[in-house]
Order: sequence, then structure tokens, then C-alpha cells
Amino acid sequence: MKIGIVGAGQVGSTAAYAMMLRGVGSEILLVDRNADLAAAQAHDILHGTPFAYPVRVCAGEVADLDGAGIVLLTAGANQKPGETRLDLLSRNAEIFAGIVPNVLAVAPKAVFLVATNPVDVMTQITSILAVRHGVPAERVIGSGTTLDTARFRALLAEHIGVSPNSIHAHVLGEHGDSEVLHWSGAVAGGLPIAEITRQMGRRLEEADRSRIDKAVRRAADIIIKGKGATWFGIGAGLARLAQIIQDDERALVTCSMVTPECQGVRDIALSLPRLLGAGGVVATLMPILDVGERVELKKSVEILKEAADGVCR
Ligand code: 2OP
Repeated sequence: MKIGIVGAGQVGSTAAYAMMLRGVGSEILLVDRNADLAAAQAHDILHGTPFAYPVRVCAGEVADLDGAGIVLLTAGANQKPGETRLDLLSRNAEIFAGIVPNVLAVAPKAVFLVATNPVDVMTQITSILAVRHGVPAERVIGSGTTLDTARFRALLAEHIGVSPNSIHAHVLGEHGDSEVLHWSGAVAGGLPIAEITRQMGRRLEEADRSRIDKAVRRAADIIIKGKGATWFGIGAGLARLAQIIQDDERALVTCSMVTPECQGVRDIALSLPRLLGAGGVVATLMPILDVGERVELKKSVEILKEAADGVCR
């Protein structure tokens, strides 16, 4: 499968690198308005292929995306320290308005994977443009809370002392400050998280939950303060999403997509657990939430609606 990546900055190139290491895609094409950057990243990643998989890694133009099975959209501005993801909206909406119609025209059969922030609203913008080009909404996916879910699983795993692969715990709603950690649905080894922590002799008091919640919700702020941007976690997550689509795995992930209805709000892109396969989103699951989580999710969707209403017409 040919995978196109629009935006060869830190996120796009790390996703390409992670795909190469995992053997995802037979060809990875990097496209950037800075052609020298795209070419340099492609060469650098290509030189790693003898240590991993023989993926063809090259740089090109939007026209070269013809025939791509997946197009990853990572172009746009990043948060500066102190900015929220939603602060990027007008800048990145303008960038997408200039790029996405051309990409859709060249690669109308692709699954579109949006990573640019604020990712939910950017997914909604892409989805609206895609539907106008005859691309069905289920083929436009945002990375959404894929990364927050990974952070939640990694931190819970560390706290309990088990592999993150054994933890199933989701983050829902906005990929951003209003995201909802679905504590009441978190399980490991078939046990609710409170029970496995008890049996493993670990504490899970309110203070522990609050520390983990804060570490998940504030992860990007802390990393941005330390190194200017985040790229490894999201790069690994994007490679995994591309692999699921390429291999038609029907894996469950928390990714973003325009959702007909959630907590009474219609047609807003947000993350819920979704079954992902070759054609994009195959099904969406509505988690069983406790009262507090329902209130939080409604608030998160309303925040996204307010942001989307300003740019999606
Ligand atoms: C992240 O959460 C900044 O959205 C990016 O790492």
C-alpha cells in the first residue's frame, strides 16, 4: 500500500519512521511545501530500511499522492508553550482550506487520517470537504484521543505494575483540555481497575486517580515545555492506525470522526471507541458511562461544537 504523508515536520516524519520500523506500507511518500525538508526526511528514513523493512521512502508533490491507500494529514502550526490546541484553529483551518481539496482530488480512494490540531475540528473540516468530493465520512478519521488513551494505559500500567498491553482504558471526547478519562470502564485481566489494583496490593485512592488524570491531560503541555513539541507518542500511534487500516484488522481504537449524535449534540467530530478496518471506521461503540462521565463528555462535545461552529459552514 502507498501511504502519503502531507507535512514532513516532526509528527509527519516520525510517523513515517515508525511505519518504516513496523513495516507499514510498501511506499511512503512525504509531501511538504518545504520540498528540501521532505526530501531530507525521506532520505534519512530510507537509510534506516536495511535495519527494518524494505519500504520505499520518497518525497514528492501533492500530484504524486495518486493511488495512495492512506493519506496522513499533519500539515499546520504547532502549539507554543501556554497555547491550547483550540488556539491553533483559525491558522490551521486556513492551511487545510488550501491543501485538502487538492489532496482529495488526487487521492479520492484513500482513507484520510488527520493529525493536525485541534484534531477533532480539523477532522470535521476535512470530512466536510471530503463528502463534497464524494468521499464517505467513515473514510475521514482523526487521530483524536488515540494518544491520550495510550498515555492513560501507559500510566495506569506503570502504577499497577502490568504491561500497558494488558490495560484497556479509554479517553473520550476532545483530544484536548476537556477530554474524559473513562475510569468507570477501565479494565485489566477482565477485572475493573479498582479490583486489579487491590489484588496487586496497589493503592488507587482519589489522589492517585487525580495524579494520573492530570498527567494524561497535561502530558502535551509538559512535553512542549521541555522540548517544544510532541512527536514520538503520536508518531507511533499514527503508524499503528495506518497498520490497522492497511491490514483490515478491525481493531478497536479511540479515534475521532464526525459522529451523528453524542450526548444530544449532532454532527461533531470527537473520539469514541471505534472499530477500524480497511474502509475506515466500520462501527462506533457508545461506552457505558457513570453520571459524572456523562456530564464531562457532554461538556467536551459542547466545547467542540462551539469551536466547529466558528469554522465549519
Ligand atoms: C499531543 O497531545 C500536542 O496534541 C499533541 O501530544
